[in-house]
Amino acid sequence: MRKLTERAIKALPRQNAEQIKTIVNDLVEGNKVLETVLSSLPAGIMVSDINHDLLFINTQARRFLKLSGNDFLEKKIWKAVHDKDISDFIESNLLSQERVDEKDFNIQIGDKVKTLALSILPLVDRGTIKGSFISLEDVTEKRAESLRLRRAESLASLTTLAAGVAHEIKNPLGSISIHIQLMQKCLNAENDVCKADLLDYLNVVNEEVDRLNQIVVNYLFAVRPMDTDPKCRCINSLIEELIEFIHFELEQESIEIIKNLEKDLPELKLDDKLIKQAFLNIIKNAQAAMKGEAGLLKISTFRVHDSVAVSIADTGPGIPEELKDKIFEPYFTTKDSGSGLGLTLVYKIMKEHSAEIRLNSIVGEGTNFTFIFPIPQKEQRLLGWDGEKDEI
Ligand SMILES: Nc1ncnc2c1ncn2[C@@H]1O[C@H](COP(=O)(O)OP(=O)(O)O)[C@@H](O)[C@H]1O
Ligand SMILES: [Mg+2]
Repeated sequence: MRKLTERAIKALPRQNAEQIKTIVNDLVEGNKVLETVLSSLPAGIMVSDINHDLLFINTQARRFLKLSGNDFLEKKIWKAVHDKDISDFIESNLLSQERVDEKDFNIQIGDKVKTLALSILPLVDRGTIKGSFISLEDVTEKRAESLRLRRAESLASLTTLAAGVAHEIKNPLGSISIHIQLMQKCLNAENDVCKADLLDYLNVVNEEVDRLNQIVVNYLFAVRPMDTDPKCRCINSLIEELIEFIHFELEQESIEIIKNLEKDLPELKLDDKLIKQAFLNIIKNAQAAMKGEAGLLKISTFRVHDSVAVSIADTGPGIPEELKDKIFEPYFTTKDSGSGLGLTLVYKIMKEHSAEIRLNSIVGEGTNFTFIFPIPQKEQRLLGWDGEKDEI
């Protein structure tokens, strides 16, 4: 279209009146097609020039912003918009030349409240900014859907958790009820009450009450938000301290520890106690997985772009494909006396640290958990500056 126009303009001096009329007619027709296309778009579109004067507005944008007539054309774009919030937002962002990606506004259209996502992009022509492009998208359904999804997700995890608790409390409750019946039988018996039996039953009831209590404590721990106290610290020294703490026990079980810690890693924002707890849970699982065999526990740290990774790998039996999604679920365990909360806690701690967890496990070879921690902004800037200094 643009090439056609340019060619037509170039050729203009050589054309007679009839030919010029045809060219102009063609251009008008082309323009009409463009306008029809822009007007039938479901998104609202506004275009302004470099002075922020409104050049074009399509039908949908007029509908969203309740504009009629044309007297707002070639005025400052924000003056054309009646809604004060939207108008102020456009004005301040155009004047500061900020790019905007989907800022939501709620507006009333008819008897419905709609959510509009407003984006502002610079209009660039051959490398220079010629104005701005504002788009308005009706995202009412999209936002409602994502809210529904998020609610469903948290409901689903609460259901899994509640199902886990229900399953966990069944056994102690059953046991308590049986022992109370036994005590009743004992007391109702014609012959003398056997004190020793009663004491035994009472002890069992006591232990089961403790178990119930522990289940409730664990449950609360799993659902409550976590208190973290992150401080800048070196991940390698944290790992060294942890190894110092556990190496004796591992070596006694013939598990060899291999350390591979990259030097000069930037500091990370870590809650010392929680991260140690998380890594300890992973190491304990590795230890359990390698029980009875001379295994290897490999702990490595290394840098990946803007992150630092910690990998903990064992040479245990590995995790079958169908269990990989389940192991982080609360109360999921394959152990007779497992709590099934170890990895749930790891997941929670890593989430608090914005760290990503990657699981790589091959049946018959071993399991590798990698944790990818973001490098704090301040550390990143310092690194960039050092790099520049080196080049001078
Ligand atoms: N390193 C590993 N090797 C093999 N299986 C593992 C490993 N780590 C975790 N798992 C599996 O994940 C399950 C859940 O682990 P976790 O949440 O720590 O609970 P628990 O240790 O009480 O079973 C374990 O029961 C086990 O089946
Ligand atoms: Mg565990």
